[in-house]
Amino acid sequence: MTSEVTRRSLVAGNWKMHTTIGEALELATALRQGVSPSEQVEVAICPPFTALADVGRAVRGSALQLGAQDVFWETEGAFTGEISPRMLVDVGCRYVIVGHSERRRHFGETDEIVARKVRTAFAHQLIPIACVGEHLHERDAGETDRVVSRQVSAIIAELRAEEVRQLVIAYEPIWAIGTGRAARGEDANRVIGGIRGVVLGPFPAEASQVRILYGGSVTPQSIGEFSQQPEIDGALVGGASLDHAKFLAIVREVAKSRA
Ligand code: PGA
Repeated sequence: MTSEVTRRSLVAGNWKMHTTIGEALELATALRQGVSPSEQVEVAICPPFTALADVGRAVRGSALQLGAQDVFWETEGAFTGEISPRMLVDVGCRYVIVGHSERRRHFGETDEIVARKVRTAFAHQLIPIACVGEHLHERDAGETDRVVSRQVSAIIAELRAEEVRQLVIAYEPIWAIGTGRAARGEDANRVIGGIRGVVLGPFPAEASQVRILYGGSVTPQSIGEFSQQPEIDGALVGGASLDHAKFLAIVREVAKSRA
């Protein structure tokens, strides 16, 4: 399913559990210098929590948006170790990654938890980048569409139309994350078209505005395969986002495909 709506692409860097504050500032400064404002492509970086405030200050007023890698679903209270949406807004975050497969796998996040976090993010004017994706055994069993559609349905179930319009979904096949084995562009495009179809049922007017990214072993070499696909609106980049030259090359490729 293609659409006539022009969606602004998004390239987001997920730094995961990497970088001290000093290293984060170095990387953010190099990226700030390399990214200029663009109508077609928005660029976000998601450093670890400890570096958010400093990186937030370092990129303020630049073309770089700040994002966090997770958020808790309550605003404040006795939740030792958790980070609330208010705290993220306070340090300048605009985006927050929610339901990354590493959180689902290592920290037991369920579809329900992910949906709750997405709703909380919106309640605080943060834009969630909600992650979905299938395991290799699910793919081999031909269950990709069923799994991804279940995950997406949970995410959008209780959202309002104006939230859906702003939602970012990242399709990240789990077998492609950090493995150097990216999906094929056409396959990812097909799954992402299916995701848009899931949104289309309850939100016929908004589905064409939802930005849907591909993630999983994106590199400067592989990005072209994805950015040229009509349904794919950018990328969520892990490993390659820690190298400023690689990340900037990915941003340039996405911009080129939108020119
Ligand atoms: P990768 O990670 O680019 O290192 O595969 C992507 C992600 O986990 O978001």
